[in-house]
Amino acid sequence: ELGIDTYSSTLKIQLGISITWPDEHTSEYEAEWLKKRCFSEEARAEMRVDLFLPEHQYWGSDLQLPKIPFEEIMCNDESAYRWLCTLKKVGIVLLTGAATGQGELIRLGHRIGFLRLTFYGPTWQVQDKADANNVAYTTERLCFHTDYPALQHPPGVQFLHCIKQTAAGGESEVVDGFHVCNKLKKQNPEAYQILSSTAVDYTDVGVDYCDFAVHCKQRIIDTDSRGQAIRINFNNATRDTVFDIPAEKVRPFYAALKEFNDLLNSAEHKFTFKMKPGDVLTFDNWRVLHGRQGYPSCPEVTRHLEGAYADWDVVLSRLQLLRKRALKRD
Ligand SMILES: *[C@@H]1O[C@H](CO)[C@@H](O)[C@H](O)[C@H]1NC(C)=O
Repeated sequence: ELGIDTYSSTLKIQLGISITWPDEHTSEYEAEWLKKRCFSEEARAEMRVDLFLPEHQYWGSDLQLPKIPFEEIMCNDESAYRWLCTLKKVGIVLLTGAATGQGELIRLGHRIGFLRLTFYGPTWQVQDKADANNVAYTTERLCFHTDYPALQHPPGVQFLHCIKQTAAGGESEVVDGFHVCNKLKKQNPEAYQILSSTAVDYTDVGVDYCDFAVHCKQRIIDTDSRGQAIRINFNNATRDTVFDIPAEKVRPFYAALKEFNDLLNSAEHKFTFKMKPGDVLTFDNWRVLHGRQGYPSCPEVTRHLEGAYADWDVVLSRLQLLRKRALKRD
């Protein structure tokens, strides 16, 4: 039995449908609710945008780095919503004016839910260290990389809080990996095919939060079923000396990697800036590759960043909740 009703409330009249099932149970569906779940391409595309925010705004050296005051996103839901939407769309947002001691990222973690614990601890200190267990903990230049491809599920979002900045050197560099992937695909489809199909060995061995010996295989360009890049897994410093591919595929692989690396480093694509104490850089670690210029080594610490990770699951969950609150809808 099928009936079409109009439900009237004090504010609006809603069309809907009421079904009485063979067991006499009745279900009522509002027209709007049903329309959103229609199997048409338009309805599904609209729902996809709502649930997954798939839109990307690509950028190169012309990036207008989005900036929001740190305390604003901490206490204002609309600002926090704007922060996370921009982080998803552009892949990078600079939060400004945080305090210049350790612990701000712990606060930021509470703001979204919780941080991602790794072998480097809940947060980690990027500074020149004796007996460094990671190239980041030296004063050396860091080439473009994503963090932690040695993990099966690399952290989705990275936070870097500048506590102290060196006078000479130490500039940050970022590049939109998805934008460069699109360029590579056009310029050399075969190189793109190689990097999106070859499993590369990564490893990380040492002691920090606890002792660790991790090994993982990742494709440098992870793609979805349509061949679109969804995650970059590239950290030359943790690429293993083991490389589990047939010998005849080694040279073509390196040629493809060189082409990708050259595109990443081209003046057209990379964006260079220098962080100030109180800056918190937040970025999509699956999309944006980052690096830094080297700086003079000194007996005392001249540059100090505190870093932390979060998973996209946690960040997107917070985004959805903030949207409901900020836009007063559900
Ligand atoms: C990767 O690391 C190797 C070994 O340290 C080095 O020779 C090579 O130049 C690096 N490549 C890139 C793209 O950074």
